[in-house]
Amino acid sequence: MKRISLLLVAALTAIQSFAQTDANMGIIPAPVSIKKNNGTFQLDKTVTLISNETANAKTADLLNAFIVTKGGFALREAKSATAGQKSIVLTSAGADKLPAEGYVINISPTQIKVTGTGAGLFYAVQSLMQLMPEKRNDKITIQAAEINDYPRFKYRGMHLDVSRHFFPVSFIKKYIDILAMYKLNTFHWHLTDDQGWRIEIKQYPKLTSVGGKRNGTIIGNYPGTGGTDNIEHGGIYTQDEVKQVIAYAAAKYINVIPEIEMPGHASAAIAAYPELSAFPDRDTWVGEKAPWSGDRKGKQVQQTWGVFDDVFVPTNNTFKFLENVLDEVIALFPSKYIHIGGDECPKEYWKQSAFCQQFIKDNNLKDEHGLQSYFIQRIEKYVNSKGRSIIGWDEILEGGLAPNATVMSWRGEAGGIEAAKQNHDVIMTPGSAGLYFDHKSSTSPDEPLTISGLGSGFSNFQKVYNYDPVPKVLAVEQQKYIIGVQGNVWTEYMETPAKVEYMIFPKIFSLSEIAWSPVARKDIKNFIEERVPVHLAKLDKTNTNYWVPTPIGQPEKVVNGENFTIELKAPIDGARIFYTLDNYRPSETAKEYTSSFKVNVPQGQKKTLKTIVITPSGKRSVVMETTLNNGAPEVKTK
Ligand code: ACM
Repeated sequence: MKRISLLLVAALTAIQSFAQTDANMGIIPAPVSIKKNNGTFQLDKTVTLISNETANAKTADLLNAFIVTKGGFALREAKSATAGQKSIVLTSAGADKLPAEGYVINISPTQIKVTGTGAGLFYAVQSLMQLMPEKRNDKITIQAAEINDYPRFKYRGMHLDVSRHFFPVSFIKKYIDILAMYKLNTFHWHLTDDQGWRIEIKQYPKLTSVGGKRNGTIIGNYPGTGGTDNIEHGGIYTQDEVKQVIAYAAAKYINVIPEIEMPGHASAAIAAYPELSAFPDRDTWVGEKAPWSGDRKGKQVQQTWGVFDDVFVPTNNTFKFLENVLDEVIALFPSKYIHIGGDECPKEYWKQSAFCQQFIKDNNLKDEHGLQSYFIQRIEKYVNSKGRSIIGWDEILEGGLAPNATVMSWRGEAGGIEAAKQNHDVIMTPGSAGLYFDHKSSTSPDEPLTISGLGSGFSNFQKVYNYDPVPKVLAVEQQKYIIGVQGNVWTEYMETPAKVEYMIFPKIFSLSEIAWSPVARKDIKNFIEERVPVHLAKLDKTNTNYWVPTPIGQPEKVVNGENFTIELKAPIDGARIFYTLDNYRPSETAKEYTSSFKVNVPQGQKKTLKTIVITPSGKRSVVMETTLNNGAPEVKTK
C-alpha cells in the first residue's frame, strides 16, 4: 500500500479551537516562547482597556479599533482598574529589561497584561490581535498563556519596485499595513529604474515630467516577440505624498528606505537629461534593439525589461546631479540607509567612451570595474558626509567594496558571505532561496504571466520557509554581520495590486517567520498545517488577493505503486478540495474530497489525480497533478 502522505485527515475544526491545539496559538511569526496556562480570558464589553502612558495611546486605540471590528464592541479606556474588573493592561513597566522590539503578554482569566514600549508594544498588539478568534455569543475566548517575544534580526524587509509598474499611494499604504501585521520593519521602495522615475525631485522637474512615463510596455515575457502595447504607463509620487507614506509607515514602526539606482538602470533619468549619458546624442534604441515601430529617435524611457548599456557617465555634471538628487532624498527620508542600487551596470558605453577611458587613466583605476567601484565609493562618501549610510546590491563588491557599505545579496549568497567576511553588514535576499517573490509559486500552466527563464526557478512559501539567512559557512564571529533578510517584489509582470498580493501571499508569512523567529522555533508542519490555514482563511474574508495553496499532502510529481491511499488536507480553513481521476480539469462539478480514499492502478498503467482547492470566497488554486504510476511507459519525473 502506497501512501501519498502520512497526514492525518483531521476534521477541520472551527477557528475557535485552533488555539487549543496549535502550540503557537495561531501567531505568525512564531513567538520566541509560549507557555499555555489553564483557563481562558473572556473578552466582552465589560473589559476595561488600561493604558496610562501617553506614548501607548495610539497602540491602545489600534487594539480597541480592532476589537470593534472583531467583536462589535469597544472597550472602555481607563487609567486604572477597578477591583474585580477584567482588564487589558498596556504598560511599559519592566519593558526596559526586554530585548529591542521585544514584548511580553500575560493572559490570565482576569487580565491580559501587555508589556513593551514603542515597536515592542505595537508588535505585542499585533500578536494579541492574531490571538483573537471569531466572536461567539458576544465573547471572544482567549487561551490563558504567557508569551515572551523578540526578533531574531533587526532588519526585516520587503521591497517593492514601483518603476516597472506604478502603484498608487493607497496601495503603498496597504502594503505597509501588511508588513506591519507580520512584524516586518523595513519597506525598501525601489523608486527609479529604466522604465520610470517615480519620485519628484524639485531641482530636476524633467525626471518626472519626462522620466515618469513611458510610451508602451512590452507584451508578454521578455524578450518577447517584439511588440509593446503602445499604451502610456506612468505615475509619480510628489514629495508631499512621499512624506505622507514615510509618516504612515513610521506610525507602524516601519522604516522606509528609498532606492535611487546608479550607475546602471538609469534610462529614465537619461531620457529626461541626456547629458547624463556618455553618448547624449545616441538614440536609446539602436540597430535591432527596438523591434517595434515608433519612438526610435532620441533618448526614451524603456518599454521593455532587462539591462541597458546607456548608464550614467562619471562627469562632474553627473555627480553634481546625483548629489542634488540625494540632497532632496535625504531631506525627505529619515532612514539611516539610502539604497544606491549598483546592480547590473553594463560597462559597454564606458568602454566605448573616450571620456570614460581617460577618466579611468586619470584616476588610476584598473578598468571599468574599477570605475564602477570609484562611482559607488564617491557616492558613499557623499552620503556618509550627510550622516547616512549606503546599501547596494552585491555587484558593489566588484572592484572593491565602499568602506561603510551594507550589501544586499541577491545573486545567491556568495556576495553576502564575501561581504560578511570583510566585516560588512549584509541583508540576505537571494533569488535562489525563493526571496524573489516575483517568481511563480508553482509550475502549473494556470499560473499567470511571471518572469521566466531564470535558473532560480520558482518561489513558493515552503521554499521561503526553509531558508535560513545565516549561511552555515560563516564563522560565528562573522554571522553577526547578517543583519536581516528581505523579500523582493520586482513588478515587470505585476500590473495591478491584485497581482502583487497574489505574488506575496503566503510567501510573506514565511518571510516573517524566518526574519523574526529563532531557528529552534521553526516548525514547517505546524506552520503549513496549523497557522497558514487560519491566516489565509482570515485573508479570504477581505478584499486582499492571495495565491491559494494546493492541497496539503499532495506531491507535484510521479509516485510509483499499485495501490494508493489518497490523504489530503485543505490548506485553508473552510476551503474545499475537488478532484478528478479521468484527466478532466476539476471544479465544483467534480467529486469533493471528504476523507481518504484508495486508488488501484493496474500493472502497466497510470492515473492522474487532479485537484483544485476552492476557498469560501470562491478563490481557486491552480490545478495540481500527481501521476499515480504502475509501470506505465514514458512517465517523466518532474
Ligand atoms: C536585481 O535583481 N537586479 C537586484
